[in-house]
Amino acid sequence: MITNETIKNIMERYSCREYSNDPVTDEELETVLEAGKYAPNAKNNQAWHFTVIKTSEGREKVLSSIGPKPDDPMLGDLPWPPDADYRGAPLMILVSGDESARFVEDGVFIAAGYMMLAAQSIGLGTVWSTSFSKYLFRDDESRRYKNEIMPEGYRPYVAFFLGHPADPKATQQKPRKDNVSRYL
Ligand SMILES: Cc1cc2nc3c(=O)[nH]c(=O)nc-3n(C[C@H](O)[C@H](O)[C@H](O)COP(=O)(O)O)c2cc1C
Repeated sequence: MITNETIKNIMERYSCREYSNDPVTDEELETVLEAGKYAPNAKNNQAWHFTVIKTSEGREKVLSSIGPKPDDPMLGDLPWPPDADYRGAPLMILVSGDESARFVEDGVFIAAGYMMLAAQSIGLGTVWSTSFSKYLFRDDESRRYKNEIMPEGYRPYVAFFLGHPADPKATQQKPRKDNVSRYL
């Protein structure tokens, strides 16, 4: 197998669930956002939008956009909303897509992956948070700030926290399953 910086980044990325207090610099943030724009996407529609939530007002708006706890046994005794503390990360990126664009979700998911890898390559950590992608805007009350959070006609697909890992030397990669390929 060939190894290079790109392959190393891919294999070293892990879901980081503890962050330090170090802020993400503007340059770091710009690097991550820029990487997302280079993802493949259907018909080159680039129908994504990246919302950076970093102020306390922004956090409050997004938190209040998570409606009441759904009646889902999978959520069990989880506090609601989960991950309200961003797991200590200074910011979250919410990736949304234009609902009218063809195959929008495919491009949006790849863009999120590109951003996560770009973050890894500059020493930042990320972790996906389902609470902020699956549970937003489910009733009138929780849609109050929707047009401030993302463009009209867009819906959320991915949310991930971004920050400096609490332990920069942590190696928390999970073992990968083998035998997931075949050749015809
Ligand atoms: C669709 C999706 C939803 C996820 N939701 C969460 C989540 O809500 N909270 C969390 O801590 N991790 C979440 N993750 C991260 C996965 O748990 C993680 O990627 C997986 O266990 C593999 O570990 P790794 O990312 O460290 O390689 C999610 C990942 C994906 C792709």
